[in-house]
Order: sequence, then structure tokens, then C-alpha cells
Amino acid sequence: MCGIVGYIGKRQAAPILLEGLKRLEYRGYDSAGIAVFHAGELFLMKRKGSVRALSRAKGAEGSLGIGHTRWATHGAPSARNAHPHVYRNIVLVHNGIIENAEDLRRECLARGERFASETDSEVIAHLIAHVYRGDLLCAVRESCSRLEGAYALAVMCKEEERIVCVRQKSPLVVAEEDGEQFVASDLPALAGKAERAYVLCDGEYVSLGKALTFYDSALNPIEKAPEKGQQAQDSAAKGRGHFMLREMAEIPAAMAKTAQNFEKEYQNSGLCEVLCHAEYIDIIACGTAYHAGLCAKYAIEAAVRIPVRVSVASEYRYMDPIVKRGTLAVAISQSGETADTLAAAQLAKAKGANLLAIVNVQSSSLSRIAEHVLMTYAGQEVAVAATKSFNAQLMALYLLTEKLARAKGRTLSLPPLAKAAKEALVRSEAVRAWAERFAAARDAIFIGRGADYCTALEGSLKLKEITYLPSEGYPAGELKHGTLALIGEDTPVVAVVTEEGTARKTMNAVHEVAARSGKVFLVTMFAELCKEKEVFASLLLPKTSGLFSPAVAVIPLQKLAYHTALARGNDPDKPRNLAKSVTVE
Ligand code: M6R
Repeated sequence: MCGIVGYIGKRQAAPILLEGLKRLEYRGYDSAGIAVFHAGELFLMKRKGSVRALSRAKGAEGSLGIGHTRWATHGAPSARNAHPHVYRNIVLVHNGIIENAEDLRRECLARGERFASETDSEVIAHLIAHVYRGDLLCAVRESCSRLEGAYALAVMCKEEERIVCVRQKSPLVVAEEDGEQFVASDLPALAGKAERAYVLCDGEYVSLGKALTFYDSALNPIEKAPEKGQQAQDSAAKGRGHFMLREMAEIPAAMAKTAQNFEKEYQNSGLCEVLCHAEYIDIIACGTAYHAGLCAKYAIEAAVRIPVRVSVASEYRYMDPIVKRGTLAVAISQSGETADTLAAAQLAKAKGANLLAIVNVQSSSLSRIAEHVLMTYAGQEVAVAATKSFNAQLMALYLLTEKLARAKGRTLSLPPLAKAAKEALVRSEAVRAWAERFAAARDAIFIGRGADYCTALEGSLKLKEITYLPSEGYPAGELKHGTLALIGEDTPVVAVVTEEGTARKTMNAVHEVAARSGKVFLVTMFAELCKEKEVFASLLLPKTSGLFSPAVAVIPLQKLAYHTALARGNDPDKPRNLAKSVTVE
């Protein structure tokens, strides 16, 4: 969601804050702002839009400051609602949502206080200013005891040369080196900045200043060990151009690296015994990661014959799920910080399931709460639309399926999926020619059966996310039960056909679409289907097993969304209204 940064040290803070915010922009880009103290004087700049709008702040004097890039929750995206929020002597940035903000605001208004913004965050500055008696740390803690919801805060005040931070359900990391201290929402924002990095846990406080001091929720000083092997590396896709395009180019490497490391990950995870006793699998995830979970359900049920339930995490957490003995819960997340996934995973664990996290960020909250962890090796993903992380998740899930099969006395061997993905990337260039037609369409439909249905869902999500075209992913056989009514002259319908057993059945739906003047774009592994007269355009995928095909078949659909977004004049890396990491409910 929002991204926060802070710096205190011997250098000018502004360029460091701006660089950190640039790296955090994927968490939100509705507005941005920085605040820097110099000899007790506050420099403040807030702008609507991306961090670029703050470039004139670069020359601000001062070596103590905080910054923020926003994804709007309370209040429209505007300079007025941008952080940092200042009230009296208090300056703060916040990531999260304060659920009792309205009650607290009424309380402040009753005291005669005036608000400068419509945000839930500003109320925190008011609370802190109200209780401040010369110790910022104590004032922050006292105020936090009034807050309900999620927050990561970085707070400064005129009277003290330090930054006080706290974390409650929203991520926060700090780092130090050579008398310089940094705080940020995630480690990549601190890339190359400091040797020692620490991840705050819920309820912990830290004061950055003369010394870096950590405190528990009662403000007792605590020792924290630096993260092992977690130096903030710069692993975002290198090169020029859109991140999304570069990240798609990294799909084969992400899959290969995940596969190479899998055995080591598996041995370290302690899963071996757990898989032997697993009778049910409960998969929990959001968005693209949920689609990866659906793909795994088809693979596990077909190859291992044990029941798999896949739930959208935001539903699971409130549905009082029935978790049977012998359940292995699998939480899938690129960031490991998605609030709904974390809450659902915690619930599954509390209900007695063994919790496995499949996650791309080692020091994430999800990897900390899980009993077993399997890492994906996609590297940092910056574009809001998930691409390489999805393929890497599938790789890990299919390898897990292989292990499950073995644990249940079955044999299964995966085809060379990374190689097929590499070939699919090359062939997918052809869909660039489809983009004009999609860009001009009113809506689009994606269909498939079995694993192809999962691919269709993910293709549809990609398209709507970055092109803003209404789009539906649908089971091919279900089309005739209602959705066929949407097909009009030239409606583009992407049909995914990789499973031999059901290929002809899906082609029935293709014929039904063509008979109603829809335009069929076929993505298939079967050359003969491309020649059918009802097919308007086609892309031939490299041959691989239909069961595991989503890792390969999704690639042309990711590319289609990318090129269509460009044709519609959108920035594919920063779709409107969205953010990469959804750390609020
Ligand atoms: O970090 P996570 O994998 O938990 O994120 C889950 C979803 O928010 C994410 O996959 C989202 O749907 C993507 N923007 C889709 O491209």
C-alpha cells in the first residue's frame, strides 16, 4: 500500500528519501511528500501524483527527514491528503488503515482542533501532539494504545533529533551503517544503503537517532539480531523500459531458479513428514497468487488424488472455515505482506492446520508466521501486475505436487517447464498484432477448461488490471449458461486449449462464439486447431503437459495485456487505483 522512508545521519536527507520513495513507488503513487528538519526548521513538500513531482525538494537542507508515497484509502488522491502530516510540533508518515479514525477525529474536533486533510492518518498526529510531554517515544506509544487497525509509523517532532517508529500489521524495516540510520517499508527501498538490516515485529518500537534502540510494546529496550543474508540487495529487473516487460523476460530464469533451489528449500522446510500425513490441502491467497492456487488444485487433485480447497483469503478469514485434522494450509504470496493472506493464514494455523508459506520475500511477515516455508526465486517484482512471480509460484507448487505424489506412493515427473516458458516468450511476440483489436474493444472474454480455465482467469485479470477493459475469465462449458449473451459483433474471446482430453469440448464453445460474430483468439498447443475456420487468430504454444500448462500458456496472455495497455495509452507498470502490496483490508 503506502510506502514510508526515513533517514537520520551525516548526509543530506532529501536525496536519500527521494531515492527510497522511488523504490517504494510500486506500493502506491497517488501522491508523495517529504519533510526534512534543519536547525529546528521544517521543510515540507507534498504533491499529487508520483515521486517525480517532488524533484524540486532534492536541494532541501537537513539530515533528518521522512517521506511517503501514497495509495489512497481515506480521502481522495491530492496534495492536501498527501503525507507527511503535520500537527503542531508533530510530523508523521503512516502506512495502514486506522479503523476507529472517525471516533478519534470527533474527539479531536471536540477539543477545538482543526484538520488539514480528510485522512485517517492525520488523526494520529493530533493524538501524539495532544499527549506529548517532552518524550516522543512515550507520546507515540500512548497514542498507539488508542488506535485500532494497521499501522507502520515514522514520527518526528520539532524538539527532538530522532525518528520514532512503530509497527502494527504493516511492514517496517530499519538499517544502520557508519552512524547513518534508515527506515523503510521494505528492504529493497534500502538497497545498497546499509549492512545491518532489522525487521520490526508487530508491537515493536524503534528510535533512530544517536543510537538505534529497539523496544517491545511496553517500551522495554530489546536486542534484535540483524537479518541473516538479508542485506538489502537491488534485485529489481535491470535495463530500460517498462518493468512489466523486463519482468516477463525474466520468467524462464525465475522458474529455473525456483526449481534449482527447491530441493534445498524442501529439505530445510521440514515438510517431508507433514506431506506423508496430509489428507487435505487448504490453499489461501489473493489475486494472481489465488490463481496459482487454483492451478495447483487441478494438478494436485489429478496427480495425487487428495482434496484441495482454494479460497480467496479475504473470504476465508471471515467464513469460519472448517479445517479438518490432517490439513496442510498453503498460503501463497509474492510479497508475503498481503493483509488478507496473513490473517487467513493465521486463522488456518489457529484452527490446527500445518501452515506452509510459498513466498517470494524471505524476511516477509508471512514467512515469519509459517511453520514451513518454500521460497520462490523470482527476484524483486516492481510492476503492479504480477508476471514472473506467478510463473515462479506455479513452479514451486508443481514441485510440491511432485513431492506430495511421492509421499503418497505415486510417481509424477514434471516436464521441462522453464524451457517451454522460454520458447513461449519468443512465440508470444506475435500477440502484439492482436493488441489493436483488444484496445478498441468494449470488453473481452477468456475461456478454458480445467487448468486452462485457471489460465483464462489470470489472463483476464491481467487485461483488466492494466487496460481497464471489463473482462471475464470463464469455464468454456459454462459460457452457454448466460455469459454467451455478452458476445456481440467482434467481441474478442481468448480460448486457451492445452488439454487433449477436453480440447474438442472447448472448441464447441469456440464455434458457439464464432456463430455469434465474436472474434476467437486461440492459444493452444495443437497446431490442427489453429486451422479451423472459426479461429480469427491463433498462437501455437510449445508442447507441454496440459496439467502444468498454465506456467507456459499464461505468457502470451501477459504479453497481450501489456501490449493492449500500451495501445490504450496506459502505463502498464502503474495501473490506476492499484498498488503492488496490499497491506490493508
Ligand atoms: O503479494 P501477493 O502475492 O500476496 O499479492 C496478491 C495480489 O494482490 C496480487 O497478486 C495482485 O492481484 C496482482 N496485482 C495481480 O497482478
